[in-house]
Amino acid sequence: MKTQFPNDFLWGGAVAANQVEGAYNADGKGLSTSDFQPHGLMYPPGERKPGEFNLKDVAIDFYHHYPQDIALFAGMGFKTLRTSIAWTRIYPNGDEQQPNEAGLAFYDALFDEMLKNGIQPLITLSHYEMPYHLVQHYGGWGNRQTIAFFERYATTVFERYQHKVKWWLTFNEINCALFSCFTALGLPPGSSPQVVYQAIHHQLVASARVVKACHRIIPDAKIGNMVAAMPYYPLTCHPDDVLEAQRKEREWLFFFDVQARGEYPSYMQRRFDEQHILLQISAQDRDDLQETVDFLSFSYYMSSCASADPQKQQATGNILNMIHNPYLSASDWGWQIDPAGLRHLLNMLWDRYRKPLFIVENGLGAKDQIEEDGTIRDDYRIAYLNDHLVQAGEAIADGVQLLGYTSWGPIDLVSASTAEMSKRYGFIHVDRDDEGNGTLERRRKKSFTWYQQVIASNGGSLVKPELDGR
Ligand code: BG6
Repeated sequence: MKTQFPNDFLWGGAVAANQVEGAYNADGKGLSTSDFQPHGLMYPPGERKPGEFNLKDVAIDFYHHYPQDIALFAGMGFKTLRTSIAWTRIYPNGDEQQPNEAGLAFYDALFDEMLKNGIQPLITLSHYEMPYHLVQHYGGWGNRQTIAFFERYATTVFERYQHKVKWWLTFNEINCALFSCFTALGLPPGSSPQVVYQAIHHQLVASARVVKACHRIIPDAKIGNMVAAMPYYPLTCHPDDVLEAQRKEREWLFFFDVQARGEYPSYMQRRFDEQHILLQISAQDRDDLQETVDFLSFSYYMSSCASADPQKQQATGNILNMIHNPYLSASDWGWQIDPAGLRHLLNMLWDRYRKPLFIVENGLGAKDQIEEDGTIRDDYRIAYLNDHLVQAGEAIADGVQLLGYTSWGPIDLVSASTAEMSKRYGFIHVDRDDEGNGTLERRRKKSFTWYQQVIASNGGSLVKPELDGR
C-alpha cells in the first residue's frame, strides 16, 4: 500500500538564524549568546576576542543570499520553510523600548520573498540564542524580568508580521536547557538544578504568555512548542530498565505536558521534592501556563536505550547521551538511526495529547564527497530521509494527525553542537569549509531531485524498505 499524506501536508525544510544568516553585527544587530559559542553548544562559551575566527559570523551568508536560496527551495516545491528570527536583530540588547527598524525590515524582505515563491514561513521565536546583554546584566532566564523582555520582542514581531506569518514556534528544543544551560537559558555552565529549573519555569511562563499574545494579535495563526524528542527503549525487559526508560522519557515529556496540558505533571513535583528543588511559582504563573499551544512540534534524530544498571551507562553521541542499541546503526557522529522510532514517537505523542503534530527537524549529518564530474551522490541521505518519511506515513495511516515535515538543514549550514560545516545535512551544498574557506557557491546534490519528487508526488515516490525479517 502506498503512503498517503494529507493534501495540505506542509513539506519543507528547517534552518535557524544563527546557523545560516551570518552578518552577525550588520544593520544594528546586537551580540547573542550564539556569538559567544564559537565551538558549538557542546563546548563552554568563550570570550569574543577581536579578530578571532568564528564560522558563524558569516555562516552561509543567508543574510545576503536568501533570494537565491528561497528560489532553490521553491524549485524543490517547498510549501513551508522553518527559520528563526534573531532576537538581537530586533532588540539588539533585549531591554530597549524601541525595536531596530533595520532588523525588522530584513525579515519583512525575507518573508515577502518566501510568500512570493509560495512558501509559508514557519517561524521560531528563539532558536538557541538570546541577547548577550541580558545574560551579562540580568542573568538570562534566571531573572524573571526576562519574561517581559521576551514578551515585548514577541509582541513586536507578531504585530509587524501578522499578515505574513501564520505558523509560529516559541522556543527551539526547550528541553535543551537540561544539557546546555548557557545556550538555552543564558546561565553559567554547571548551574545547579534549582537554578536551571527556575529559569526553565520562567521560559515556560514566557512561552505561554506569547502563545496568548499570538492568539490575540493573529487570531488565524497557529503557534506550537518545540521539544527535542528521543524515545528510550528499555535495554532489557527487566522491569527496572522499563521504569528507567519511562523516567528518561519524562525528562522531555515534562515540557510537552506543561505546554500541551497547561500544568506541571505530578511526577515532576515528586522529582523536585526528592531533589530539594523549590520553585517560585506564582498564582499568576499557574494561570498563564493554562494557555496551551495549538500544535506540538519536535525534532527527531535518534532513539536511545535506558538501563537501571550504572555499569551500562557509557554514552556516545553528542548533545544527548545515548546507550548503544545493538539493532541500530549510527551516523558518523554516533547518532543512532531509527526510522521506526519515529512512528513509535508520533503514535505515543498523539495518544497522549490528541493535538496535531509537526516534525520540524529530522535529517542526517554526513560528510559529502564532490565527485570529479561535480556531482554529489548522497544516497545515504536519501535512504535516511526516505525511511523516516515512510514511517511518518505509517503513523498517519495509524490515525496520527501530522501537519507537516521540515527536514533539518535543506541547505548546508553550521552545525549547532560542534559548529562545523563538515557535518552536512543539505539537499544543496554550500562551498565553505570548517576554516571558512570557499566561495559560498550553492550546488544541488542528488537528494535535491529526490526530495523534489517526493513533494511533487505528495509522498507517492517514497519506497518502503524491506523488513529485516523480524
Ligand atoms: C537540533 C537543533 O538540535 O539539531 C539544530 O535544533 C541543530 O539547531 C540540529 O543544528 C542538528 O544538530 P547538529 O549539532 O548536527 O547541528
